[in-house]
Amino acid sequence: MTPDKWNAVDDYIGHWLLPADPILESVLQANHAAGLDPINVAPNQGKFLFLLAKIRGAKRILEIGTLGGYSALWLARALPPGGRLITLEINPKNAETARANLTRAGLDKVVEIRLGPASESLTKLVSEKDSFFDLIFIDADKPGYPEYFSRALQLSHVGTVIILDNMVRKGDVVYAADGDPRVVGARAVYELLSKEPRVSATAIQTVGAKGHDGFVMALVIA
Ligand code: SAH
Ligand code: DHB
Ligand code: MG
Repeated sequence: MTPDKWNAVDDYIGHWLLPADPILESVLQANHAAGLDPINVAPNQGKFLFLLAKIRGAKRILEIGTLGGYSALWLARALPPGGRLITLEINPKNAETARANLTRAGLDKVVEIRLGPASESLTKLVSEKDSFFDLIFIDADKPGYPEYFSRALQLSHVGTVIILDNMVRKGDVVYAADGDPRVVGARAVYELLSKEPRVSATAIQTVGAKGHDGFVMALVIA
């Protein structure tokens, strides 16, 4: 297998399973035009999040790391009428781009973007009344993951699904001596998960347009 082949397979999957979607494509174009890094989830990953939210029957979704709102759009589309997505973003330009994208998609009433460091937004969310989520997607700065995961648990109930993106990092996650704070953050989450009786978790490696990476899925069971 080679990265060329991974890309070809992502294209193949997209050809058969992801019909042309002008709104989603316009989000990627707007993000590019605004100079945002192309670090959004791939289309087939976005659809995976969409399907997961549908399977869960999620009415309340939390995302940490909005960028231009691409994954937020996939997740918001999975919500039933009256459902709500809150997404946290530190960068004003990213948040503004996402706001414009979600407005064009007609989802600005469904999605609330909260600007600021996720750490602060999560503390505030925990203090709010009736603040719980059925699905939580963690995709912001990797060194923050251990804290975001702990906060996510506080915002969960039995049955909440927590997804963490970028938890394989080209395989670098196996290197205990790796000094990259993103690897250190990911490794700390695996350790937290191993000791956390309230969740049942696994991780899946992925290859494709986004290279070799993977995600963790944790189900809150107690
Ligand atoms: N989920 C998006 C991609 C997110 S990229 C998608 O798939 O479309 C990661 C985002 O996290 C970036 O926009 C970055 O600005 C944001 N971020 C980084 N550090 C953050 C922090 N401390 N608090 C909130 N957001 C943060
Ligand atoms: C980066 C962040 C992501 O969430 C991702 O999926 C890929 C790359 C990054 O910060 O480089
Ligand atoms: Mg990511």
